[in-house]
Amino acid sequence: MADIVRVEGLSKSYKGGFQALKHVDLTIREGEILALLGPNGAGKTTLISCICGITSISAGRVLVAGHDNVTEYRAARSLIGLVPQEINLEPFETVMATVRYSRGLFGKKDNDAYIDEVLRQLSLYDKRDTQVRALSGGMKRRVLIAKALSHEPQILFLDEPTAGVDVSLRKEMWQTVAELQKRGVTIILTTHYIEEAEAMADRIGIISDGQIRLVREKQALMHELGRKVLRIELAQPLTEVPAGLDTYELSLAKDGAELVYTYDVQSDGTGITRLLTALAERGVKVRDIRTEQSSLEDIFVDLVEAEGQA
Ligand SMILES: Nc1ncnc2c1ncn2[C@@H]1O[C@H](COP(=O)(O)OP(=O)(O)O)[C@@H](O)[C@H]1O
Ligand SMILES: [Mg+2]
Repeated sequence: MADIVRVEGLSKSYKGGFQALKHVDLTIREGEILALLGPNGAGKTTLISCICGITSISAGRVLVAGHDNVTEYRAARSLIGLVPQEINLEPFETVMATVRYSRGLFGKKDNDAYIDEVLRQLSLYDKRDTQVRALSGGMKRRVLIAKALSHEPQILFLDEPTAGVDVSLRKEMWQTVAELQKRGVTIILTTHYIEEAEAMADRIGIISDGQIRLVREKQALMHELGRKVLRIELAQPLTEVPAGLDTYELSLAKDGAELVYTYDVQSDGTGITRLLTALAERGVKVRDIRTEQSSLEDIFVDLVEAEGQA
């Protein structure tokens, strides 16, 4: 897949000096769905605002289909549609007028046939002459997407498309996004829901504290997220992992007082019962056990530690 957006060494400091982005490198591939996953305050909105050229960049550059988004702002911006997190629509305008107006802002000639097509794609066509205020929440969100697509962009940014939205509406949004991808739109969305990234993305980028921690194929990342840890508190500390347990991923912690077993939730069977039996056979007495699911937070910690060692 060709790269459609390149972000190179991008930093952003807000007035007052707060550095919201720290040397971000990121490549977006044509036709993919990339989810930027990170907690509140991570810098997701800042990053997409910088890519779209609506927030100034402090250092680095952004190329959109080869166009620098500062020196060739209009060319770069015309390729991008942005769906903001907040619903900000004129309640008394009709759907059609709302979307037409957005197209006009880009200096594009009227093309109602194109807008009708977008409205059909988004299941809004029969609402084209309805006032925005009469629409359901889900429809209003789709109007935001229609507005973002009004000037025929190739790349669509969705900033937290489902934050604070109920489950059925969230699934509806996932379907809408999948449909858009099928029609050739490259999609970048931000989210703080792991399930959302899992449901939609081809690749997932994890962002925290203004830095991209990793970008990976979804399959590979979900595998890592699916790992669990079983902490086995021992009655007597051990100096080494008991012999004959090589088939298990084991390590000692807390000065030998704890045996740590890492396993894959997605594999058939966890092996916990077998492991506990094997320990009993070796005379290792267990005081307590508890499991930990690796969370996004753990992955951040692991990544930061790994970087520290590299
Ligand atoms: N206009 C601004 N001025 C100063 N700081 C800001 C501004 N906008 C965002 N920030 C700060 O930058 C950080 C990243 O914010 P943001 O990009 O909105 O994160 P996210 O979208 O991941 O929740 C936060 O600490 C936020 O408080
Ligand atoms: Mg945000």
